[in-house]
Amino acid sequence: MKLLFVLVMMTTCAARLQDMSGRMFTFPLQTNKAYVKLNTPRQDFNAVTICHRSFTDLKRDHILFSLATPSRSNDFLIFWDNANKEMEAFVGDKKVEFGGLDYKPNMWHSVCTTWDSSSGLVQLWFDGQPSIRKFISSGSNITGPVIIILGQEQDTHGGGFDINQSFVGMMTDVHMWDYTLSPCEIQNYVDQLNFTPGNVLNWRALEFQIVDQVLTEQRITVCH
Ligand SMILES: *[C@@H]1O[C@H](CO)[C@@H](O)[C@H](O)[C@H]1NC(C)=O
Ligand SMILES: *[C@@H]1O[C@H](CO)[C@@H](O)[C@H](O)[C@H]1NC(C)=O
Repeated sequence: MKLLFVLVMMTTCAARLQDMSGRMFTFPLQTNKAYVKLNTPRQDFNAVTICHRSFTDLKRDHILFSLATPSRSNDFLIFWDNANKEMEAFVGDKKVEFGGLDYKPNMWHSVCTTWDSSSGLVQLWFDGQPSIRKFISSGSNITGPVIIILGQEQDTHGGGFDINQSFVGMMTDVHMWDYTLSPCEIQNYVDQLNFTPGNVLNWRALEFQIVDQVLTEQRITVCH
């Protein structure tokens, strides 16, 4: 009986591998407890592309993507700075800002961010529109163990959440590659056409753990 209980506990706690096509994570309330942890065996990156879609009506700062390593809690981060109306990208704890974006509430927005360590340049594609290419950090890899979290911003490796930076809303189509995608590949992602799914995080075969109140639901579709 005790063994059975342990086995049941193990299956509920173990990360699940799921095809999330047509589905989304719903973060339904403001809290510093609820999040989704995304798992990957990949731990060493000299280039990265991260794409995701999100839907919110938050009128404050909030996190969209948080990757921390033991020495750098902002090793790769996408963050909305509401006071300055800027999307911020962090690599290796360094920050660049992208302004002038039409980040309207209550609609889906796609964000793709590329970076490579040889040029040190980061570029953000907001709803398919490329930003300028800005220098952020060159010459060193993002080296794990990585902890990747949706819904909360990590100020420590896997913790240090701030309720006032939490995400409330929906997220879908999260992919991560260990190379920079070409503009055409990014356009295919934005237009929801065929694209090579992420080789680090793949929304169609996603290994994740939900902590506290986050739901997986059918993605909202509009009736015509
Ligand atoms: C950086 O990452 C790349 C890709 O994973 C790897 O081939 C290379 O050896 C790494 N470089 C260092 C200095 O760790
Ligand atoms: C979050 O923001 C509210 C309202 O501005 C403030 O009262 C509260 O102290 C903040 N909480 C934290 C943990 O920073």
